[in-house]
Amino acid sequence: MAPSSSSFSTTLSVFLLVLVGMASAQLSSTYYNTSCPNVLSTIKSAVNSAVANERRMGASLLRLHFHDCFVNGCDASILLDDTSTFTGEKTAKPNNGSVRGFEVIDTIKSKVESICPGVVSCADIVAIAARDSVVALGGQSWTVQLGRRDSTTASLSTANSDIPAPSLNLSGLISAFSKKGFTAKEMVALSGSHTIGQARCTNFRARIYNETNIDQSFASSLKSNCPSTGSDNNLSPLDAISQTTFDNAYYKNLVREKGLLHSDQQLYSGGSTDSQVTTYSTSSSTFLTDFANAMVKMGNLSPLTGTSGQIRTNCRKTN
Ligand code: HEM
Ligand SMILES: *[C@@H]1O[C@H](CO)[C@@H](O)[C@H](O)[C@H]1NC(C)=O
Ligand SMILES: *[C@@H]1O[C@H](CO)[C@@H](O)[C@H](O)[C@H]1NC(C)=O
Ligand SMILES: *[C@@H]1O[C@H](CO)[C@@H](O)[C@H](O)[C@H]1NC(C)=O
Ligand SMILES: *[C@@H]1O[C@H](CO)[C@@H](O)[C@H](O)[C@H]1NC(C)=O
Repeated sequence: MAPSSSSFSTTLSVFLLVLVGMASAQLSSTYYNTSCPNVLSTIKSAVNSAVANERRMGASLLRLHFHDCFVNGCDASILLDDTSTFTGEKTAKPNNGSVRGFEVIDTIKSKVESICPGVVSCADIVAIAARDSVVALGGQSWTVQLGRRDSTTASLSTANSDIPAPSLNLSGLISAFSKKGFTAKEMVALSGSHTIGQARCTNFRARIYNETNIDQSFASSLKSNCPSTGSDNNLSPLDAISQTTFDNAYYKNLVREKGLLHSDQQLYSGGSTDSQVTTYSTSSSTFLTDFANAMVKMGNLSPLTGTSGQIRTNCRKTN
């Protein structure tokens, strides 16, 4: 009786340890402590100067991490350039003519290679740069888990299928994030990223001309820069109140029907997430904390660790 119960609990403990190990996949905040002790300060100062040069770059670097992690995990697959024999993710519909920040990542990578050659992955650089960008724009910090390695592959088709489109309705948004292990609440928190950065006319035209759950003066104000045809690449801020500050103004916009994207307003349009939006619109600290926790979770999506993948020398190509 006793021996079998103890061996059952040993088996159970081993099973639970394996599960925990799989979930955390061996990332650690101290991963580079001895192999590259100055990596964090090097990246932070490079991000700070890029953001000082152009505030929007903070938004672009945050989005790069999201579009990396949602396609086969945070493995820097989005950074690989197309070649005559290789098709990467850069021309996927959500990325083409839209994702930016690659030159900043190149600059950071060359600084990091000069202090610790062959040690720090491009995937970790993107994760750290996303955090430092949010902090540079006034958001709350989080501890970035480290030790990701870089992919030797990319997937155009997964980029097209798994990065959520702005045409999705609430149930589509909830399922796109659920597929990656996120709750609806975490999806609402992560969408608060749209408190910074800009979108192209092509992505909000149908909303400002054809939707009814939009503040009419807000819609009118956007039309001169986004005509009903043409000017697809003209930009407008996702958060008209404070586009370069990482605050809770995104949710204040939503409760006033001033979400720029169809998908933004879906979070507050009479559905199950309305109350979460209201909470974030009135409590900036609740939003900032939930956002930081959800970002740590996003950064843990299927990392390559151990001997999987590689540490790329140039983030744009495999070694
Ligand atoms: C909830 C589903 C989401 C949808 C449908 C969505 C869609 C979009 C679209 C269409 C744009 C504008 C792109 C363009 O017009 O070129 C955009 C911009 C942006 N997205 Fe999202 N997004 C979502 C979630 C997220 C998440 C989770 C993050 C980060 C964790 C994020 C970060 C950003 C940022 C920072 C920008 C501005 C980028 C810049 O100015 O360069 N988005 N998003
Ligand atoms: C790693 O470095 C950080 C920052 O210098 C320090 O706070 C931490 O105690 C170190 N951890 C280990 C395990 O060496
Ligand atoms: C990507 O964008 C470029 C320029 O905006 C365009 O010429 C090209 O056709 C697009 N590629 C795809 C696959 O959509
Ligand atoms: C959401 O979109 C999906 C796919 O386009 C559609 O099947 C579904 O009926 C829509 N749900 C609602 C509540 O509009
Ligand atoms: C608005 O809806 C109408 C009718 O469905 C459609 O013909 C038109 O192209 C839409 N306009 C935009 C800007 O999406």
